[in-house]
Amino acid sequence: MTNPTPDQTTQTSDSILIVDFGSQVTQLIARRVREAGVYSEIAPFNAAKEAFARMNPAGVILSGSPASVLDENGPRIPAEILESGLPLLGICYGQQSLMHQLGGEVLSGDSGEFGRAFIEIGDDCALFDGLWAKGESHQVWMSHGDKVTSLAPGFRPVASSAGAPFAVIANDEKRIYAMQFHPEVVHTPDGGKLLKNFVRHVCGLAGDWTMAEFRKTKIEEIRAQVGDKRVICGLSGGVDSAVAALLIHEAIGDQLTCVFVDGGVLRMGEAEQVVSLFRGHYNIPLVHVDASTLFLKGLEGVTDPEAKRKFIGKTFIDVFEDEAKKIGGAQFLAQGTLYPDVIESVSFTGGPSVTIKSHHNVGGLPERMNMQLVEPLRELFKDEVRVLGRELGLPEIFVGRHPFPGPGLAIRIPGEVTRERCDILRKADAIYLEEIRNAGLYDAIWQAFAVLLPVKTVGVMGDGRTYDSVCGLRAVTSTDGMTADIYPFDAAFLSRVATRIINEVKGINRVVYDYTSKPPGTIEWE
Ligand code: XMP
Repeated sequence: MTNPTPDQTTQTSDSILIVDFGSQVTQLIARRVREAGVYSEIAPFNAAKEAFARMNPAGVILSGSPASVLDENGPRIPAEILESGLPLLGICYGQQSLMHQLGGEVLSGDSGEFGRAFIEIGDDCALFDGLWAKGESHQVWMSHGDKVTSLAPGFRPVASSAGAPFAVIANDEKRIYAMQFHPEVVHTPDGGKLLKNFVRHVCGLAGDWTMAEFRKTKIEEIRAQVGDKRVICGLSGGVDSAVAALLIHEAIGDQLTCVFVDGGVLRMGEAEQVVSLFRGHYNIPLVHVDASTLFLKGLEGVTDPEAKRKFIGKTFIDVFEDEAKKIGGAQFLAQGTLYPDVIESVSFTGGPSVTIKSHHNVGGLPERMNMQLVEPLRELFKDEVRVLGRELGLPEIFVGRHPFPGPGLAIRIPGEVTRERCDILRKADAIYLEEIRNAGLYDAIWQAFAVLLPVKTVGVMGDGRTYDSVCGLRAVTSTDGMTADIYPFDAAFLSRVATRIINEVKGINRVVYDYTSKPPGTIEWE
């Protein structure tokens, strides 16, 4: 298997390199920079030297970190970057390491500064252009134990807070700026504008990175990578694989074949929507495999969540491989892998080796089928994929769709999964989503779905006794699925949905709402 390495991603001197020292929020820096119309990439500190040489960026941003510069083994800024003469911006640990390495002083604070704080603007500075003026006070978000106590030569303080006398510092001649607070988080309301000032004013970038531009560049890259070979793409019904397929089809036309495996655990109307969109709307060659009998037969008697997941994953690969053989094979496998799956996370304990998060959407397939990967979205965040989807004309019903897990409804039916139970759940889920859409709440929710519990309870309908299943409703808000809060529907909404489900879905006589955030819960029930 040949995985595209980061070396194959976009090379441009109109870009910004972000050196990741392991902060939880480094990805947000990349987001803010892209929002300013500038392309950026993140590299872990121990691979930053190579990324710097490859990208030839116009400036470098140094992230925060859980480490301390006072630790002997704390991560350092590579000399090539420090001595490059390019504009640098240090954030939190980035600021402390700049001072530590350039001749200032950092001390472990007696008490740190965490959360919302206010800084006083003491002087003008390029980062504040058109934004903050001398004498003003502004809200920022702090999270630091150590702090800078004396500045390296050439630096001057331009803002201070109660806990950080050098909250923002500047070396105008060398174009090096640094701040103790985190401009990348939303709790620093003007943070995005500060970062924009850095990349546009200090680094001198035009801010013309757009999705239309990305689309053009990617199409050329796909053509160069694939040549006249064949590409196969597994569609899941979700936005990522759909956008990847559209982009690849635009690049290489009918050299692309899409395969859509329906294992009987999809939502209401999902298979029909995918088929009509790809065949009817876009005229993209699509193999639609109804493998529901195979999947549901294999799931008989399986109640353990991991066993369900493993069976579905393996069976998906088997079916996909068979279909690929039937159409004469392909040299490339397309996947809708996104940037958060690709970024190498920083490991402080694992020595020089860094952990790469698993990003095999259809794990195992490329090795088994000896295929190379085409992953045109691997530089994008989820909401950027949505923008690209709109750019490619993907209907809104696909573009804004809530995430849906690979194992589908099987992990929303605790206990045994049967065709009958899938049908019951599909109906309840469709009612719930219809009510959410009607109330105009769909886009405010990260994910909403119904689950069917393996519990029967007694009810009364009309004059008769019922003894039927319980349906659980889940709705969460989230930015990345890693953490989540419950969506606080009002009682009238929930009781409307419960009444409709009980009246319209045979087999359900009780509805409950899941009030668990993540952590401690997970979003899915299995
Ligand atoms: P959890 O349940 O772990 O889910 O809190 C976090 C997010 O991941 C989705 N999810 C999956 N997506 N294959 C997928 O493609 C899976 O096996 C899978 N399991 C969970 C889940 O829907 C939520 O968005």
